[in-house]
Amino acid sequence: MLSSQTIAIVKSTVPVLAEHGQNITSVFYKNLFTAHPELLNIFNHANQKQGRQQTALANTVYAAAQHIDNLGVLLPAVKQIAHKHRSLGVKAEHYPIVGAHLLGAIKEVLGDAATDDIINAWGEAYGVIADVFIQVENDMYAEASTQSNGWNEFKDFVIVDKVKESDVITSFYLKPADGTSIPSYQPGQYITVRLSIPGETHMFNRQYSLSQAPGNETFRISVKKESEMNPNGKVSCYLHNTLKVGDQIEVSAPAGDFYLNVDSSRPVTLISGGVGITPMMSMLETISKTNPSRPVSFLHGARNASLHAFDKEVRSLLSNMEDTTYAAQYSDKNHLITKEFLAENVLANSDIYVCGPVPFMKAIINNLYALGFSEEDVHFEFFGPAVSLEPV
Ligand code: HEM
Repeated sequence: MLSSQTIAIVKSTVPVLAEHGQNITSVFYKNLFTAHPELLNIFNHANQKQGRQQTALANTVYAAAQHIDNLGVLLPAVKQIAHKHRSLGVKAEHYPIVGAHLLGAIKEVLGDAATDDIINAWGEAYGVIADVFIQVENDMYAEASTQSNGWNEFKDFVIVDKVKESDVITSFYLKPADGTSIPSYQPGQYITVRLSIPGETHMFNRQYSLSQAPGNETFRISVKKESEMNPNGKVSCYLHNTLKVGDQIEVSAPAGDFYLNVDSSRPVTLISGGVGITPMMSMLETISKTNPSRPVSFLHGARNASLHAFDKEVRSLLSNMEDTTYAAQYSDKNHLITKEFLAENVLANSDIYVCGPVPFMKAIINNLYALGFSEEDVHFEFFGPAVSLEPV
């Protein structure tokens, strides 16, 4: 329990830390990786280079500190992050290391302004915030273990098939190397793939949505090949260019809180842009198998027909269903998912799921709100670290 004095110090210094947020977290990461280079096997090096994870961590610590006397309000956000932490193998013992380097960075950046009282108050606050994460993550490890026969971290999977879905997207079908079966998961969840790439000092982790319904004999991920110039392209290029059927990769148990509410009887609208189609494929296949009379509108944005993945598969799934809408918009033809398009194609009173690149998502979500859909109706997942939703 934090004292009222500690709470007051923490709350009153949030704006100061926020002002120096980028500096503090840059110093923090530099010092953290110098002292603990093994953590580079967990963190995404590309996010570090692009500064995106810096922002994500800074924002979350300040948001948490602002609510330090009522952390319950942050639980949905904590759970989303905790899913990612669990899928990457973040453990309770990592928290004190991160905490010590965060406090060290605050001291280093603020200098004399960071008095002992301030540092001690933030140390206590960090401990309280970390405990919330650790508790939620421990529960998630236990739950994953129960669902997956003791498997809650990484294990080897064999690539049993590789199928081209568009000019840039290829599906990888994966089976556990130990011969066990695929655990159940929620349609929309992701796995983390961990790779050792020859010539690289540290391992690479990437999250990919599972792109088929639970209940199949394999996991399927469908990976967009990024440009080799993009720091994020290293893993996708290695998967596309080098790995072949028969090779093994490490995979963590399914995670994530963006998934279809299978118990809802409302209509469903699935809206995706580019490779954001992957969780939608899992959701659509699930509805077609378990509740084919549930009305579905499947809306997709791609640059053009050759970059449009899964067109045939979507048509085939929809053909077994009773009440469906399907529309793809090609931006090369200047056909966009506009507010007017949404007004025509989003089903009334539906559960809406959105996934795609950040600008696409911002535009769609703001338009959905403008059309009168509520936060409860609209579920979404951004690629990469979570970002705040500012109006476009
Ligand atoms: C991701 C916050 C502790 C490792 C994230 C994200 C946030 C965050 C906001 C982005 C989530 C997303 O992508 O959706 C925090 C907070 C912490 C904490 C507030 C302490 C209270 C830790 C610890 C570790 C860790 C102890 C392990 C050493 C990671 C990794 C990612 C991540 C590897 C994925 C993104 C990347 O690789 O750059 N964390 N985190 N975090 N966190 Fe944490």
